[in-house]
Amino acid sequence: MLVIINDVLTGEELAAMRSQLASADWAQGVSAGPQARLAKRNLQLPEDSPQLKDLRITVMRALNRSTLLLSAALPFKILPPNFNRYTGDTNRYGMHTDSTLRPLPDGSYLRTDVSATLFLSGPEEYDGGELRIEDTYGLQTVKLRAGSMVVYPSGSMHEVTPVTRGERLGCYMFMQSLVKHTEDRRALFEMDKALMGLRQSYGEEDANIIRLTGLYNNLVRRWSEC
Ligand code: NI
Repeated sequence: MLVIINDVLTGEELAAMRSQLASADWAQGVSAGPQARLAKRNLQLPEDSPQLKDLRITVMRALNRSTLLLSAALPFKILPPNFNRYTGDTNRYGMHTDSTLRPLPDGSYLRTDVSATLFLSGPEEYDGGELRIEDTYGLQTVKLRAGSMVVYPSGSMHEVTPVTRGERLGCYMFMQSLVKHTEDRRALFEMDKALMGLRQSYGEEDANIIRLTGLYNNLVRRWSEC
């Protein structure tokens, strides 16, 4: 299940982040597991980068505003976002799946259920650099306007095709969902979307909508782990 969330960032946030990224020092991307590392040819903002803290705060604040993200991903934990740059010889990330468990500072692990890419360069700024994701319905190609985001299951095969002109800046992140299984999340997302539509048509106080909302909540209760 791919979900596109448009305009996660405000124009001001995007401009501020772009100016911080313009002054950053980049390093060869290293965060992936051994198999993905072979496919990974991009640049990444190092963990000790002075810009990283502010950039992460901006992204996390933006994510917290998104009711669509909440509904689609039901996030439980989000790993601090990272930033990457594709240009020149470091311009691609071949087919891979994201590694399953990521260590957290407290010694526990985050299970990657949902991956997200927030586009920070506009499609007119570069050629190539498409995110291609294998979905249930085949290979999907995603290239969004700056400030918009795609979320997809971490277990799906995906790649970033070579950037052949300009540079592509992005932010990527991993989430552990309250609901582990993609199909369960998809069912809840579909139900929540239908409920939102019904509320708009019939109002918040319709007795059957209240009953269905209770059913939605009981399914979350049944399927969630935290
Ligand atoms: Ni990946």
